[in-house]
Amino acid sequence: MHSNDPGTKDATTRCGVIGHPISHSRSPRIHRAFAEQIRLALDYVLIDAPPEKFATRVKAFFTRGGHGLNVTLPHKAAAFELADQAGKDARQAGVANVLTRLSDGRLRADNVDGTGLVRDLACNLHSPLADRRILIVGAGGAAAGIMPALLDAGVSEAIITNCTRGRADALAQRLDKPRLVAISLDSLPDWNAFDLVINATSASLQGKRPTLPEAIIGKHTLAYDLVYADRATPFMEWADSLGARTADGRGMLIEQAADSFRIWHGTRPDTAPLINHQPN
Ligand code: ATR
Repeated sequence: MHSNDPGTKDATTRCGVIGHPISHSRSPRIHRAFAEQIRLALDYVLIDAPPEKFATRVKAFFTRGGHGLNVTLPHKAAAFELADQAGKDARQAGVANVLTRLSDGRLRADNVDGTGLVRDLACNLHSPLADRRILIVGAGGAAAGIMPALLDAGVSEAIITNCTRGRADALAQRLDKPRLVAISLDSLPDWNAFDLVINATSASLQGKRPTLPEAIIGKHTLAYDLVYADRATPFMEWADSLGARTADGRGMLIEQAADSFRIWHGTRPDTAPLINHQPN
């Protein structure tokens, strides 16, 4: 178990989440619940940082003894750039959602959004990815972050599409995997219903949904929105009206938090109590 100050018996480990905006983040509650499981004295703070303050606030946090930071919008690309070294998924994606201070003082970047999503799909939603055909809508940082883990999970075919086609092409080229193809939104009606359709656009945050053809949704489709909210997103409502099963990113949030916790504290906590607890 990590301790910031080995000289102090009851040292508290300092972690947090940085983003902009950040006040509504659920990460503090999740990490504190995990810490209680192993009786870890954890101080988990919220850090609000506009883009121009990101690097300064990260450095100040770690200089003052911070151990690890979760990184959320809009800083995931900047987190990757700031780090001295990076894990495989972060390197492939070019974006990171975890920063960890190593024992030699250097900063390491990881991306556990994808592993969190894969685990939510397999363990909580009972939809493992092996041999599944999947469609990812969106080609920004959110899409990039989940792609390496999705492709490692044994999907038979991964299609990525985006309003701005060039961004989908660029992401597919960066990842360079044989089962991954970028296509234009216009050609989507030519495809059969997918096993899994992931909304990785930021449309839900604006109360909108990407315009998609009904042909991509079947009765067997799981429509997953990376965004989590108190109510179904417009994308989920649309897919539900076509008979699909739907999920939002709440389970992914909890599972990626558990992966972050394991990186920092050496133990993966039990996520079931949080997954099964339905917030009001
Ligand atoms: P993030 O880091 O959240 O992915 P981003 O890099 O700004 O943020 O990317 C936002 C993604 O959502 C992009 O794929 C964007 O499409 P474009 O690249 O064509 O702009 C997509 N997006 C945002 N609003 C959308 C909307 N109303 N309908 C469809 N796609 C949308």
